[in-house]
Amino acid sequence: MSKPLSDKLDNLLNEGAISLHVPGHKNMTIGNLDKHLSLNMDMTEITGLDDLHHPEEVILKSMKTINKHKDYTAHFLVNGTTSGILSVIQAFSTVNGKYIVARNSHKSVFHGLDLVNEDATLLEMNLSKRTNQYEGPNVNAEIKDFNEAKLGIFTYPNYYGECFDVQAMINRFKLEKIPVLIDEAHGAHFDLEGFPTSSLNMGADYVVQSYHKTLPALTMGSVIFIHKNAAQKENVLKYMSYFQTSSPSYLIMSSLEQAQRFYERYDGQDFYNKRTQLVEKIKAMDMNVLEVDDKLKLLVSCPGYSGFDLQRMFEEKGIYVELADEYQILLILPLWHSDDCYPYDTLLTKINELKIERREKKETSEVNIRLQSGTYHSGDIKKSRWVDIDKAENEILGNDIVPYPPGIPVMFKGETITQNMIKLMNYWHEQHVRVEGIKKHKIEIKDE
Ligand SMILES: Cc1ncc(COP(=O)(O)O)c(C=O)c1O
Repeated sequence: MSKPLSDKLDNLLNEGAISLHVPGHKNMTIGNLDKHLSLNMDMTEITGLDDLHHPEEVILKSMKTINKHKDYTAHFLVNGTTSGILSVIQAFSTVNGKYIVARNSHKSVFHGLDLVNEDATLLEMNLSKRTNQYEGPNVNAEIKDFNEAKLGIFTYPNYYGECFDVQAMINRFKLEKIPVLIDEAHGAHFDLEGFPTSSLNMGADYVVQSYHKTLPALTMGSVIFIHKNAAQKENVLKYMSYFQTSSPSYLIMSSLEQAQRFYERYDGQDFYNKRTQLVEKIKAMDMNVLEVDDKLKLLVSCPGYSGFDLQRMFEEKGIYVELADEYQILLILPLWHSDDCYPYDTLLTKINELKIERREKKETSEVNIRLQSGTYHSGDIKKSRWVDIDKAENEILGNDIVPYPPGIPVMFKGETITQNMIKLMNYWHEQHVRVEGIKKHKIEIKDE
């Protein structure tokens, strides 16, 4: 019988694939999760095992161990941060007013807006000169429709590990008594020594962390933290049970409990030693290392090479990175610890074997990312058709265009397609970047 997926995964493990990407257990080499969990724990709601959708016993007890901050209760999410974001957006649909959203939000935010069929105000953004990504919203800019706002939604940190002044933004919203949801998907390890501060310390109403991304938890394991004074609390809990499976995985839930234990006992000494050595090794190979606010992330670039070139070279050596873009690759480092099984020495050896030549600097596509505030138009475009990218100028985009990863829409449905956008899509096509919304060099446009 054909079993293509299992075979592929088997091959990767047999070849000794080295993970510099999510999940945080790095192919089960960080956190000793496999020593604490076994597959036969994959049970269901039998007597004594409680019910995630009505927790009163052991699941409630377990969730209480996730006590990162005294003002918040923690709730397991077995369908990722996505399910937490959808639940909060859905809960606020009963409130009058507008959603105010950062343009660099994850696609789950825009899906949530589509589900409630409400437009949102998109905030003016700042571009990071270091990474060429959205760093975060401009905290000083005027906010359109602020007097009508009902919920602010911000991503902190960005995918590349950069932090904007989220405290200033939360204060601004708090002053007007507008609740905020912080998508801290990439910050489950925050507040550990040397890492940025979590927005749990800043009075956010809802904070969602993907434990699986940076801590050793199973994929899909996330936690939503709800402030004791958060508006719509009961409604959010209700929708969490709508947006999550009725058969929650006991393995995922136990892995969250284990990840929390790991977090509480974590000593970063090994991490910082190994990180320093790794950075030196990469630099010694004539590559550049860009360090960002979150020390768990490293950006590696090299003159004459695109990020896609570097990704291919790393993969030829069996090293898998989180993502590549035009300029760089993004590495998500392991939270190394004294008794991990991460193949660190092999990683250094393989990096040493990379053949980096001196090359002329490459021309980049120089596509301007839009920073100005605007509106997200929710809902589907009723009638659309597929056209070749090169024939789409001045047409209206029929679907969001989302490079994955990172899963952040770069172009929204309803927008007029410019030459600049076509240039960028062609560049992705040439580089074989996975982009949701583009199929065989075609995109959907509005057809009326
Ligand atoms: C910024 C951001 N928010 C939310 C998510 C969704 O998280 P999850 O995969 O836990 O559903 C992601 C996933 O990549 C993300 O990068």
